[in-house]
Amino acid sequence: MQENRESTKVGLIGCGAIAKLIAEAVERKLVICDELVFYDQDTKKAETLKSALRFPATVVSGIEEMLTLKPKVIVEAASQQAAREYAEQIATEGIDLIVMSTGALLDLNLQSSKIHVPAGAIGGLDALSSAALAGIDEVVFTSRKNPRAFEMHNKEAKVVYEGTAEEAARLYPRKMNVAATLALTVKPAKVLVQVVSDPGVQRNTHEFRVKWQFGEMFLRFANDPHPENPRTSALAAWSAIKLLQTLLLNST
Ligand SMILES: NC(=O)c1ccc[n+]([C@@H]2O[C@H](COP(=O)([O-])OP(=O)(O)OC[C@H]3O[C@@H](n4cnc5c(N)ncnc54)[C@H](O)[C@@H]3O)[C@@H](O)[C@H]2O)c1
Repeated sequence: MQENRESTKVGLIGCGAIAKLIAEAVERKLVICDELVFYDQDTKKAETLKSALRFPATVVSGIEEMLTLKPKVIVEAASQQAAREYAEQIATEGIDLIVMSTGALLDLNLQSSKIHVPAGAIGGLDALSSAALAGIDEVVFTSRKNPRAFEMHNKEAKVVYEGTAEEAARLYPRKMNVAATLALTVKPAKVLVQVVSDPGVQRNTHEFRVKWQFGEMFLRFANDPHPENPRTSALAAWSAIKLLQTLLLNST
């Protein structure tokens, strides 16, 4: 019954662009919980997010304090370093963790049903993971951004990076988590990453081509950048919101 229900808390590690959209979705009751718990290494960011909300929220000074409040789900929306540092501890506590900085998971080798990877700034991972079971021959991931994003002025499309997803996620920990998500999904197949400075695109455009045992796929996402962090696509935050909604519904 409602009165006996345990209070449902959601923890957010990192209080930047993604966290703000998640908190607003909670406030708008798209995600049902009773309280938000914020941690950011920059406490001012956590305090600012709390004061912008008309929803119960607590700011904590570290992960230990967050864990004592027993959130049902925690969302890491901070950095690969944060995911590396906290993922195992959170999963060991039996708390569901949504990881946005997926590049960290490439070298952690964590096997836990408590760790969840949202599709982030792309989609179609269901089809990709199905194909991965049968056998994938080739995955090429191309990320196109307007030259502005690279502080470049090229008039023709220009490849600015080409390499593996693992290397891309390591070299660009704040930009290439999408490539890491793909790499985690198609394992053991490898993902070839191309980053293109392209005057022909205004949006952050991610596309991937897959050749697998029984066919081919081509998916393309043209994402509006998050107004407060142009590196982040709003779709990434919405994918976390959707996953959070599902996890909370499943846990009631
Ligand atoms: N999976 C995807 O498709 C995808 C898409 C976009 C962004 N991301 C990743 O999600 C993460 C968050 O993105 P954002 O746009 O909200 O970033 P942001 O820079 O707007 O906010 C990140 C916040 O986390 C805090 N932070 C950083 N390291 C921390 C740590 N170790 N402990 C506590 N707080 C810490 C920062 O102070 C900052 O306030 C980034 O790693 C980003 O690369 C993933």
